[in-house]
Amino acid sequence: MVNSLLTPTPQALAEERVAEPVVHHVAHGFSDQFALGFTKVLRFSADTFFAKRYGHRAIVLETVAAVPGMVGATIQHLTSLRRMQDDHGWIRTLMEEAENERMHLMTFIQIAQPTWFERLVIQLVQGVFYLAFFALYMVSARTAHRIVGYFEEEAVISYTLYLKEIDEGRSPNVAAPAIARHYWKLPADATLRDVVLVVRADEMHHRDINHGFASKLAGSPASAVAVAPYPEHADDIRLVA
Ligand SMILES: [Fe+2]
Ligand SMILES: [Fe+2]
Repeated sequence: MVNSLLTPTPQALAEERVAEPVVHHVAHGFSDQFALGFTKVLRFSADTFFAKRYGHRAIVLETVAAVPGMVGATIQHLTSLRRMQDDHGWIRTLMEEAENERMHLMTFIQIAQPTWFERLVIQLVQGVFYLAFFALYMVSARTAHRIVGYFEEEAVISYTLYLKEIDEGRSPNVAAPAIARHYWKLPADATLRDVVLVVRADEMHHRDINHGFASKLAGSPASAVAVAPYPEHADDIRLVA
């Protein structure tokens, strides 16, 4: 009991970060400018398509967010094999990011159901985005990681707006799905708001990791910005019913 009073819950840790200023990597040079411009175009498209339907937005965008980690891991894996060089932990980090993003999707699919049109968009976007991101990563891994860093900056903003919708009563604060309670080790009475908080904390962590990778590939010291803490996740992601 004493221990539970002293140890902050996952929600408390994530909540602490609400008040922190928005983190933004200032673009330096063509690679960063390209990554930022591309991200802003996609942000505009998502805002136009989804408006304030945050549940649907989360589902469609998480199907995209789970792609770069797997692409990066695949290419880093093949590079390590070809060059017979250590990967310095990048492969596992990127594979874990892909799994984490897929768990975001598995969670939000319990909250909202995509329309048939959104399912069609998901099919088409996956085909195009996977191939395009793979090609970009082969040409410039630095730009690819910078894009993910900027995507994650936008994800943090979107989940902050989702929290506002919940707090102001426009989105019902339903009970957290069982899969989310298991994965983030949340208490039995956890709500959607608690889930959005820990998902957002995941995105802050991915943001800092990917900006750090991009900076490292650009030859600058990994990153002057501290990496946001990663919420604790269950080792066994299979939900035992
Ligand atoms: Fe995500
Ligand atoms: Fe993310």
